[in-house]
Amino acid sequence: MTGPTVLGIESTCDETAAAVISGRDLVSNVVASSMDEHARYGGVIPEIASRAHAEAFIPVVSKALADAHMTIGDVDAIAVSAGPGLAGCLAVGVSGAKALAAAARKPIYGINHVIGHIAVTQLQFGDFPEDTLALIVSGGHTSLLHVTDVARHVDVVGTTLDDAAGECFDKVARLLGFPYPGGPHIDRHARLGDPHAVKVPQGLTQGRAGHDHPYDFSFSGVKTAVARWVEGRRAVGEDVPVDDVCASLAESVSTVLATKAIRGCLALGADTLIVGGGFSANSQLREKLVEVGSHNGVEVRIPRIALCTDNGAMVAMLGVNLVEAGIRPSAPDFPIDSAMPLTTISV
Ligand code: KG4
Ligand code: ZN
Repeated sequence: MTGPTVLGIESTCDETAAAVISGRDLVSNVVASSMDEHARYGGVIPEIASRAHAEAFIPVVSKALADAHMTIGDVDAIAVSAGPGLAGCLAVGVSGAKALAAAARKPIYGINHVIGHIAVTQLQFGDFPEDTLALIVSGGHTSLLHVTDVARHVDVVGTTLDDAAGECFDKVARLLGFPYPGGPHIDRHARLGDPHAVKVPQGLTQGRAGHDHPYDFSFSGVKTAVARWVEGRRAVGEDVPVDDVCASLAESVSTVLATKAIRGCLALGADTLIVGGGFSANSQLREKLVEVGSHNGVEVRIPRIALCTDNGAMVAMLGVNLVEAGIRPSAPDFPIDSAMPLTTISV
């Protein structure tokens, strides 16, 4: 299939990434990560990440074009993540993309990174069915969105009232002594443990709160319950069964996410659920979603891991959708927005 050729540029957090997509073909995809530089601080340090973007920007973008056997003159448009994300990081990618667009006289689209996580699934699974719900689970976001038209309109169906799922995993991981980011360590240990060993609450599922917030999430209570349990064991000098703690945490979080997302699909008549964001790499969540989805006749589309974590293809793909839909490019002075609302698709 042919279609517009778009260069996508990503710099919201600790990945500098660029990719070229022609229509639905991923022609190149380059990612440089500064994750290792943050590990010893236990979290992403914005100043270090911004500096890493400044260093990686030209090499990454040049490699994406070279791998595609193209020059900037060959692309129809440039797309860049304008938010949400770390302001200093966004500023590097957006400034670089603007300079490139001005020099090459190309249209530029400042896009919403989170909507990019939804858009990228088209590379693997094809275009969106008419009624699609999207579960976005990243370090910073846990949201359920109704995708009416990925280029023009999405609605927020539910969101976390406190911590994101990834954040909750990272905080428990820190308590257990795993390095940042802790999510993948919990995933690995959870595979070895008993998911019912520790009683962990399922936030916003019971009683009045569950009734009032059918599609919202809350993970801070889960985190606190696990922390209290671990501290209680340590206080009396008992060993902490790390695998069991991880398995119980993963069981609670994945069950709540999968149940609420599929319930949302049934209520809104959506027979497809798209899943995106770094936390969708979690194996317990992937299994649970497929299980609950198949029981309820909902097709669950979870991309391969390389497309779940931050990348340039997600930005390029949404750029292709915007060009195809005839959406006006962004103004040359478009701002970054570190708290960009999920309903803003492009600026
Ligand atoms: O989307 P993402 O790459 O960055 C943000 O935009 O936030 O998501 C990163 C989050 C981190 O919290 C990390 O711990 C989590 O995704 N994560 C995982 C796994 N892989 C990444 N959490 C649980 N299990 C995993 N396998
Ligand atoms: Zn992301």
